[in-house]
Amino acid sequence: MSKQLILALSKGRILDETLPLLADAGITPAEDLGSSRKLLFDTNLPDVKLVVIRATDVPTYVQLGAADVGVAGKDVLLEHGAEGLYEPLDLDIARCKLMTAGISGAAPSQARRRVATKFVDVARRYYAQQGVQAEVIKLYGAMELAPLMNLADEIVDIVDTGNTLRANGMEPRELIASISTRLVVNKAAMTMKHDRLKPLIARLSEAVASRRETQGA
Ligand code: ATP
Ligand code: PRP
Repeated sequence: MSKQLILALSKGRILDETLPLLADAGITPAEDLGSSRKLLFDTNLPDVKLVVIRATDVPTYVQLGAADVGVAGKDVLLEHGAEGLYEPLDLDIARCKLMTAGISGAAPSQARRRVATKFVDVARRYYAQQGVQAEVIKLYGAMELAPLMNLADEIVDIVDTGNTLRANGMEPRELIASISTRLVVNKAAMTMKHDRLKPLIARLSEAVASRRETQGA
């Protein structure tokens, strides 16, 4: 196994909050990630590289060892499954909730419930645990539209402020999981590159703690 470290970062919402934590841990991209069409980036450290990929692809890269370390939302990790991954650190960014939601004031359907979501495995597990029969319909975005268009009775989606639900005449129902961004590490790399990974995780952990203190102050 090469001693090079590859970090897989989620592009989109999480990226801007990830970079300052990495900087605190001593890793900065060699060029501006936002203004480049590149996907693989050098950093200030010769043996550390970054890939910037879709959030949902991060666990796959790390599980299969194409990347050693990843940064991904717990929602994405719950849907992907934990096989081959350690999750040593909560980075405490992009906090939100994974919830069921339905049309405001409407009683949840007692018959087989149609549920639209991109989190199909999480939704199947959740409704099975609740003893509710559900037909899970895979969507790739704009879940809040599905009940309005009578495509579904309920959705499973991320809720933060609740503004998106309210703007579409919907309300949150049940909490499935509290979500934040996590650091994940390939299990084999954790052993083979322990000398390199241990200080990185420690420095990130310190960065998260000092940020919490600043925010709490
Ligand atoms: P993709 O574009 O690959 O489908 P995505 O649209 O889910 O991914 P983002 O919207 O960038 O990706 O969100 C990335 C992560 O940020 C999510 O996995 C979740 O953990 C978190 N997140 C999503 N929406 C919110 C929100 N409204 N508030 C806080 N965190 C959020
Ligand atoms: C996410 C999520 C919800 C919304 C919730 O969407 O899918 O639609 O945020 O946040 P709120 O409760 O504060 O309104 P995002 O804005 O990332 O857009 P997306 O549909 O492209 O994922």
